[in-house]
Amino acid sequence: MPTITFDNAGALYSGRRILEPISLTLTERRIGIIGENGGGKSTLARLINGLGAATEGTVLYEGLNVARKAKEVRKQVGFIFSDADNQIVMPTVAEDIAFSLRKHRLPRQERDARVHAALERFGLANHADDSPHLLSGGQKQLLALASVLVLEPSTVIADEPTTLLDLRNRLHIRRIFSELDQQLIVVTHDLDFIDDFDRVIRVQSGRILDDGAPGPVIERYIADMRASEDDSGR
Ligand SMILES: Nc1ncnc2c1ncn2[C@@H]1O[C@H](COP(=O)(O)OP(=O)(O)OP(=O)(O)O)[C@@H](O)[C@H]1O
Ligand SMILES: [Mg+2]
Repeated sequence: MPTITFDNAGALYSGRRILEPISLTLTERRIGIIGENGGGKSTLARLINGLGAATEGTVLYEGLNVARKAKEVRKQVGFIFSDADNQIVMPTVAEDIAFSLRKHRLPRQERDARVHAALERFGLANHADDSPHLLSGGQKQLLALASVLVLEPSTVIADEPTTLLDLRNRLHIRRIFSELDQQLIVVTHDLDFIDDFDRVIRVQSGRILDDGAPGPVIERYIADMRASEDDSGR
């Protein structure tokens, strides 16, 4: 699996401390990131592919400094947002997937073959010529995933990929994720989604508060949240 290294990487945006300097090495295949709203999870995830910049320290992806080589890193690290609507750019589902490949300058035949394979893989073949906006929430999420995976990245980062989905679609996305060969980093409030991951990191107030196997990290998170909720009710 790719190695991602945070070396005292912090984020101070508009004079506000968002992330304390963090040192972390990520080598596992499936990594979950959990924690309270506003804790810094999305900020942390965005540092990995250069969507956001560390204002101190460095983040390395396979030895590449993300701040200096963002373009190269983004070829290897795909990012999926929770609101799949934001990732729709073209008038049809097939064109939307093909759009991802525009920079690859593939022969037309190969590009079409890749798009076709992605449509089949994600059960979107029947919607190839439909407007992406007509898809259901779950199908839009699958389209966003297809558009990222067609680029064959080594790492996929997904920020709350299941938030807007019903149980069926959540389970569907979970199964598709479990079948991916890629390294997978998932930011989520859906604790069931990551209970079989290799590692779970809990972020709070811009710090890594907990880090380890999913069982105990999730358990401590739930216990802390219950305790603080009890306190606030008193
Ligand atoms: N570019 C920015 N400039 C200023 N503040 C920012 C910026 N980006 C994020 N923040 C702030 O940093 C804090 C952490 O945000 P972040 O989105 O990383 O949290 P999160 O853990 O993903 O929360 P949620 O679970 O609600 O998605 C928030 O208070 C947010 O307002
Ligand atoms: Mg977030």
